[in-house]
Amino acid sequence: MTTRRMILKTGGAAIAIAVAGGSLWSATRTPTKALEPWAKAKRGYGDPSLNALAYAILAPNPHNRQPWQVNLVGEGVIDLRCDLSRRLEHTDPFDRQITIGLGCFLELFRMAAVEKGYRAEIDIFPDGEPSPRLDDRRIARMTLKKTRVTHKNNRQQKDPLFDAVFDRRSNKGVYKPEAVDPTAFSELLRPNRVGGTLDLDTVAGLRSLSFQAHELEMRTERTLQESVDLMRFGKAEIEANPDGIALGGATFELMNITGMLTRETVGDPASAAFSQGLEIFRKTLYSAMGYVWVTSPSNSRADQIRAGSDWVRLNLLATKLGLAVHPLSQALQEYAEMDRFYTSLHKALNIETPARIQMFARIGYAANPGPSPRWPLTSKLVAV
Ligand SMILES: Cc1cc2nc3c(=O)[nH]c(=O)nc-3n(C[C@H](O)[C@H](O)[C@H](O)COP(=O)(O)O)c2cc1C
Repeated sequence: MTTRRMILKTGGAAIAIAVAGGSLWSATRTPTKALEPWAKAKRGYGDPSLNALAYAILAPNPHNRQPWQVNLVGEGVIDLRCDLSRRLEHTDPFDRQITIGLGCFLELFRMAAVEKGYRAEIDIFPDGEPSPRLDDRRIARMTLKKTRVTHKNNRQQKDPLFDAVFDRRSNKGVYKPEAVDPTAFSELLRPNRVGGTLDLDTVAGLRSLSFQAHELEMRTERTLQESVDLMRFGKAEIEANPDGIALGGATFELMNITGMLTRETVGDPASAAFSQGLEIFRKTLYSAMGYVWVTSPSNSRADQIRAGSDWVRLNLLATKLGLAVHPLSQALQEYAEMDRFYTSLHKALNIETPARIQMFARIGYAANPGPSPRWPLTSKLVAV
C-alpha cells in the first residue's frame, strides 16, 4: 500500500496529511448508494406510478429533507402526505419551505408522467389547506390517465424542460466573475411570478443582504444547531442518511477525520472551523452575478405549491441555459430575529404584502457539482 501526502486547504491555511492509499482512497469517496435513485429514475420500475415517482423524488427541497410520504392507493392513484418528522422547526416554523419542496415534487411527477404518455391529474389539499402548520392530511391526490398518444401530439405534450432533469442542481459553489448573458436572463424571467436583476448596484446590495442574513442564521443558536444536526460528514454518514447537508468528497472527509471539521467545531461560533466556514460563505455569496426570485400573490398553501412548481421549472430552464442557481432562503424565513432582513429584501425588490417572495436565489456560471443524495423511492412508500 502506498502512502501519499494530501493537501487540505482550509480558509487561508494548508496542511499536508499522509494518507494510506492516497488517490485510491479519494476515488472511493463517492456515496454510490446515495446517488443510485438518479440512475434508478432513468432505468424505471416498469410501472407508470413508480416511474413518475422515481423522477419526483429528485426534486429540489429545503435542506434535502425529502419529506414525501407516498401511498399507492390503486392503479395510477397516489396520495402524497408530508412526513411531519422531516420539517424544519426553527428555520421553517410554518412549513412554508417544506410545502414548496412538495410543490417541486408534484411538478416533476407531472412532467415525468407526460413524458411517458400519461396525464397526471393533481388535486391539491383534497382534505383542506392545513394552517398554521402542515398536519397528516393529504398534500395531494395524483391520478394518472393514459393519453392516446400519436407521435405528433406526444411530441407537442412533452415538456422541453424535462431534458434537464438529470443535470439540474442547486449549485452552491463559487460562481465565475462572468456577466450573465442578458438574452438568456430575459428568457428566464418570461414566466409569470418570476423576477430578477442583473443591475450592478442592486446586485451589490443583495450580496451584502444575503450574506448578513446567512450570518444571522449561523449566529442564532437554535437555527445554527438545526443545520448542524442535519450535516452528514463523509461517505459513511451520507450513505446511512442520504439527506440533509452532505459534506462529502475527500477534502471534507479528511478534515473530518483530522478533527478540523466536526459537528462540534462547526456548531461552535468560537472555533476556527466556524470562522473559516463563514469566510467561505462570504466568498461564495459575494460571487453572485445576479438574482432571480419567485413571488406569489398571497401566502396560501396553494400559492406555496405553485411556487414549488415555478421554482423547479426556473431551475430546469436555468440548467438548459447553462446557468447555475442557488436558493438563498435565509432572508425569507419567518422567525423574529430575521424580520428586518425579510422587510429589507421585500422593500429592495418592491414586493408588497399580501404578495411575498417565496424563493430567492443567486445566479451565475459555475461547474456542475454533481447530484445530491436521495433516499430510495421504496423507503418513501407507506401504507396508510
Ligand atoms: C424551498 C427551498 C428552499 C431552499 N433553500 C436553500 C437555502 O437557503 N440554501 C441552500 O443552499 N439551498 C437551499 N435549497 C436547495 C436545497 O438545499 C436543495 O434543493 C437540496 O439540497 C437538494 O439538492 P439539489 O437541488 O441539487 O437536488 C432550497 C430548496 C428549496 C426547494
